[in-house]
Amino acid sequence: MRVLGIESSCDETGIALYDTEKGLLAHALFSQIEMHAEYGGVVPELASRDHIQKTLPLMQQVLDEAGLQRKDIDAVAYTAGPGLVGALLVGAAIGRSLAWALNIPALPINHMEGHLLSPLLEANPPAFPFVSLLISGGHTLLVDVKGVGEYQLMGESIDDAVGEAFDKTAKMLGLGYPGGPALAALAEQGQEGAYVFPRPMTNRPGLDFSFSGLKTFALNTWHNSDKSEQAKADIALAFQTAAVETLVIKCRRALKQSGHKRLVVAGGVSANKSLRAALDAIPKVQVYYPQLQFCSDNGAMIAFAGAMRDQAMVMETEATFNVRSRWP
Ligand code: KG4
Ligand code: ZN
Repeated sequence: MRVLGIESSCDETGIALYDTEKGLLAHALFSQIEMHAEYGGVVPELASRDHIQKTLPLMQQVLDEAGLQRKDIDAVAYTAGPGLVGALLVGAAIGRSLAWALNIPALPINHMEGHLLSPLLEANPPAFPFVSLLISGGHTLLVDVKGVGEYQLMGESIDDAVGEAFDKTAKMLGLGYPGGPALAALAEQGQEGAYVFPRPMTNRPGLDFSFSGLKTFALNTWHNSDKSEQAKADIALAFQTAAVETLVIKCRRALKQSGHKRLVVAGGVSANKSLRAALDAIPKVQVYYPQLQFCSDNGAMIAFAGAMRDQAMVMETEATFNVRSRWP
């Protein structure tokens, strides 16, 4: 079965074709980052308008790359939430219309399930069950995963997502948008121990996170510093170290609580090198990640989740459809 995947929940248009026998056939991505950068964040109206421009040409590109035609598609999977409603509606409307015209199933996919399953696209995929750490710009989730569609939430952020905290701290240090990768790069110039940030919510039981305090701590530290380039790098490093250590502490706790020996990490922040090194050092646990290009938003993870979902016989076939800005 060949599934076309459409991702349009935020600021990237991602299209991919996944074959349940041959694997990923082709994928294409257009990032709107440059367009939103001058506003310091994603402008929802501009995002929707750009998805409209890019979706069909990218679909054609992916079909050409795979040497296939529209009639060769067996199902269309699209991101139905969570995300920006206008942006989601573009992918949903195009995806549902295409499925309707071709008389094939349309599969509404939860964006976070796409991230969760993305490491299974790799050559040596993790077996079930495992603990999943999902870390993106909008979410920080720990999930007990028993199989496709069998997810139990273990913990989540009660305020900012970890990626959001990276971005807000980066913005405050003048590193542009989205600043997560820039902050991580600057941290490499920082002196270890120059500043020590708290590890929020680690000294009490539970698996929830809170990252908004770290951003405030960074702001206060910056105001009390000599505002030099070195101070900036030192703050970047102290912030990253605190965020990483907090994630590692909660992952260890979740692994212990569930008894699982596999940890699967996905979402934009899973590209962070310092985090990967710290998680890989957890003893007696195998850690799995998506390849770097599939850490952040992409169509491949949606096509793949659609293929997994269709095999699990979970689909929606009504003519009316909806998208969800929030999807617990
Ligand atoms: O999964 P994603 O592309 O989009 C959402 O679903 O939100 O995640 C984007 C987030 C942004 O906050 C970005 O700054 C962060 O991932 N990010 C990073 C790194 N690369 C991307 N954060 C820290 N270190 C990185 N290397
Ligand atoms: Zn995402």
